[in-house]
Amino acid sequence: MKRAIYPGSFDPVTKGHLDIIARSSRLVDELVVGVLNNSAKNALFSVTERVNMLKELMIDFPNVTVDAFDGLLVDYAKRIDAAVIVRGLRAVTDFEYELQIAQTNHEIYADIETIFLTTRLEYAYLSSTIVKEVASYGGDISRFLPPQIVARVYEKYGIRDFEK
Ligand code: PNS
Repeated sequence: MKRAIYPGSFDPVTKGHLDIIARSSRLVDELVVGVLNNSAKNALFSVTERVNMLKELMIDFPNVTVDAFDGLLVDYAKRIDAAVIVRGLRAVTDFEYELQIAQTNHEIYADIETIFLTTRLEYAYLSSTIVKEVASYGGDISRFLPPQIVARVYEKYGIRDFEK
């Protein structure tokens, strides 16, 4: 059985993440979406909120589970017996950082492989950070996020009168 992990901050999960989950879950027997529990990073959503939002969205994906992890990704991958790490590559700007992490992870744990899926062009510019920036000024974020998530982001910024 081939188990893969798709790790990330998912603060919040975007349509770009969902696309990578949908496509990579078709390549493996089981995909674990791993939400990094990083207390140092000041996140908009708590790790529990992020895990719960992802779980809600995964109802139609029978071979996808959602979990939180802390510490080194490779240690977590080992613990859950995942042989593959999945990452999305948006643009060349992601490449250097992702290459460094993938090579480090492989150096620490030689049995792990990282595979990259290139994001769909329509999501090439999309990131959770940019979505938060737009939302914080009351801009329209509905095209970037799954519909269930939009109001929860605005709520964090105290914005209630956005268009539904
Ligand atoms: O969504 P992100 O923030 O780009 O995800 C980054 C993530 C979670 C994949 C990365 O920061 C990570 O794996 N952190 C755990 C610590 C670790 O193992 N770092 C890589 C070794 S250098």
